[in-house]
Amino acid sequence: MERIGIIGAGQMGTGIAQVCAVAGYDVRMIDVKDEVIAASLKTIEDNISRQVTRGRLSVEAAEIAQQRIVTGKDYALFGDCDLVIEAASEDEEVKRDVLKSLVPHLSPDAIIATNSSSLSITRLAAATDRPGKFVGMHFMNPVPVMQLVELIRAIQTEQATFDAVRKLALSLGKTVSVAEDFPAFIVNRILMPMINEAIYTLYAGVGSVESIDTAMKLGANHPMGPLELADFIGLDTCLAIMHSLHSGLADAKYQPCPLLVKYVEAGWLGRKTKRGFYDYHSEKPVPTR
Ligand code: CAA
Repeated sequence: MERIGIIGAGQMGTGIAQVCAVAGYDVRMIDVKDEVIAASLKTIEDNISRQVTRGRLSVEAAEIAQQRIVTGKDYALFGDCDLVIEAASEDEEVKRDVLKSLVPHLSPDAIIATNSSSLSITRLAAATDRPGKFVGMHFMNPVPVMQLVELIRAIQTEQATFDAVRKLALSLGKTVSVAEDFPAFIVNRILMPMINEAIYTLYAGVGSVESIDTAMKLGANHPMGPLELADFIGLDTCLAIMHSLHSGLADAKYQPCPLLVKYVEAGWLGRKTKRGFYDYHSEKPVPTR
């Protein structure tokens, strides 16, 4: 594999582009919004510069890595990609539309991976012209820091496809964990109900935002409290994953907390909108409840 396409320049697409470029791959990244692409390139530049400052990357390697990233808005950019990673919003309709637009531009041998964090890889594979060359490749946020890539095999995924993306993940310095295609796979099947329960704990008045996060940071040694982490992931993404679990597994224990639903309805999506369980308008996040 030499050239990797990325659809979506949000926080996941940005992180994936950075690690691929630093690992020596040519990257083609598209997004519908110019300002999202500009913000993504700025984040990559800042992160790579920090790697130089820390002595982990030479100035020359950093420059080359940044030059490897070509951005645009047109799917035609993916014509000579060996693999395209879809990192659009966690919404099945959006992902299906993206895949429909993508397929006509691909070479016949190109593999498609989705960074979906909860949706059926089998259903998404069936929406393409190459279900055997389709696989789930779930990166964790922040991508440059987190060690894991979860690989999910759809029922149609060919072994050669799976082997190729596993090799790629290893070449990015990541560790692979293999999950079968059930709603939310492994990480989010376990992590999201915990976050949802933390929101129920807040909703029921068991503790404040600060008490809940402090309890889990110091009492369970989590690097971030669950509410802080929810804001970091994005409350819309958390809700979408809970919906996938609830509808896919048909079990009431996955019902999204009404407070999470309300926050998303209010447009309080966490860090990206500067308001979630914390307010991010000042230098230090301020708990809101
Ligand atoms: N992008 C790139 N680098 C980042 C970063 C980001 N967004 N955030 C932090 N870093 C880097 C910092 O620059 C720093 O690097 P240096 O070693 O060069 O200084 C390093 O990571 C450590 O950062 P900090 O010292 O600022 O802070 P920290 O030690 O508290 O670590 C953290 C930050 C890595 C985010 C840590 O809090 C953590 O691990 N949090 C939990 C993250 C997590 O659980 N992620 C999974 C979410 S679930 C998921 O992604 C799946 C899904 O589908 C929803």
